[in-house]
Amino acid sequence: MSSNIVIPRGHSDSLLEHNGGPERAGETLAILGCGVMGTAILLGVLSAQASHLKTDGANLLPNRFKACVRRSEWADGIRSKLPPQTLESTVALHMNDNVAAVEGADMVILACQPHLFKPILEEPGMAAALQGKLIMSVLAGVTSDEIENHLQTVLPRGAFSVIRAMPNIASAVQASSTVLEARPPQHQQPLPRHFVATAHAIFSCVGAVFITQPVTFSICTTLNGSTPAFFAMVIDGLVDGAVALGLSRQEATQMAATTMRGTAELIMSGKATQDLRYEVACPGGATMQGLRTLEEARTRAVWMDAMRASTSGQSGLSEGIMVQRKVA
Ligand SMILES: NC(=O)c1ccc[n+]([C@@H]2O[C@H](COP(=O)([O-])OP(=O)(O)OC[C@H]3O[C@@H](n4cnc5c(N)ncnc54)[C@H](OP(=O)(O)O)[C@@H]3O)[C@@H](O)[C@H]2O)c1
Repeated sequence: MSSNIVIPRGHSDSLLEHNGGPERAGETLAILGCGVMGTAILLGVLSAQASHLKTDGANLLPNRFKACVRRSEWADGIRSKLPPQTLESTVALHMNDNVAAVEGADMVILACQPHLFKPILEEPGMAAALQGKLIMSVLAGVTSDEIENHLQTVLPRGAFSVIRAMPNIASAVQASSTVLEARPPQHQQPLPRHFVATAHAIFSCVGAVFITQPVTFSICTTLNGSTPAFFAMVIDGLVDGAVALGLSRQEATQMAATTMRGTAELIMSGKATQDLRYEVACPGGATMQGLRTLEEARTRAVWMDAMRASTSGQSGLSEGIMVQRKVA
C-alpha cells in the first residue's frame, strides 16, 4: 500500500509548489449542490477569510462564490446563515441555474449527492462551461476516473481537471480533516500544479489537509468523511449514560465533547493511544472497570467492522437511490 503524505494546515510540500503555473487560478468558485457539505465549505472559507487566516496559497483563494441549489428551502437556509452584506457582495445564489453559475466561475466544487453528478454534467452547455476549469469533487464513492470518463464523452482529454477531495462536516467550524487525492506520476492526465495548490489552499481554510493515493482514498473517505457520525455516537452513548446517572444532558454533552477534543489534542501532540489509556487507567481503578466493559462488548472490533462496512459501502453510491435530505 502506498505511503500517505501528511500536510498539516499552513504547510506545503514540493507537490504543491507552484511551478510555472499562473499566480491565481481564478476568483470565483461555484458550488454545485450547496447542501450540508457545500454550505459547510462555503461558511468555512468565508470565515477563514473574514478572520484573515493566512494559509499557504492564500492568493489562490476565490473571493466570490456561486452557491447552486435546486430547492428554495436550501436557498433560504444559506441566506439565513450568511450576513446580508455577504449575499450582496460575495455570494450569489443560483437556483436551478447551474450552467450560468459555472460559466461565471473559475473553479467548481461538485457537492451534490453522489448519484446526481451525471445529470448535472449532462445539462446542456455544462461541458462547455467547465472547459479549462478546476473541478473539485467531494462526492463519496465517485472516483475521479468516473467523472473524467463521463466528461470525456463531450470534452477532449486535458480540457478539464478533476481533483478528488474528502472533507468532513467540521468544515463549517474550520476543523475538518480533508484528504486530497494525489495523481500517480504515470497518470495519463496529470493535474496542473497550480490547480492542486488551489484545491489545497481552499481546503486548508476549513481544516487540516492530507494527501493520499487513489488506492487508499476510500479508506480516507471513511476516516475523514464518516467518522464525525461515529464520534457523535460515542458522545451520545456517554451522555445517555451520564444522564441515566443524574447529570443534565447539556452539562454532560459539553463535558463529553470537551474531553473528546482534549483527548484528540493529546494524541495529535504525539501521545500514543495505548500510553494514554494506561496513564488514565491506574491499576485497580475505576477507569479499568469501564475499559473492561468496553472490551467485553468487543468495542474495538466493532469500530474495525464499522470502518470496513463504511468503506465497502461506498461502491455503487454513484448509482445510489434518490434520497433528498430534509433541509434543516
Ligand atoms: N455530509 C457530510 O458529512 C459529507 C462528508 C463528506 C462528503 N460528503 C459528500 O458531499 C456531497 C454532498 O453531501 P451532503 O451531505 O451535503 O448532501 P446534501 O445536504 O443532500 O447536499 C446536496 C445538495 O445538492 C443539491 N443538488 C442536487 N442536485 C442538484 C442540481 N441538479 N442542481 C443544484 N443542486 C443540486 C441538493 O438539493 P436537493 O436536496 O434539492 O436534491 C442538495 O442541496 C455528497 O456527494 C457526499 O458524498 C458529505
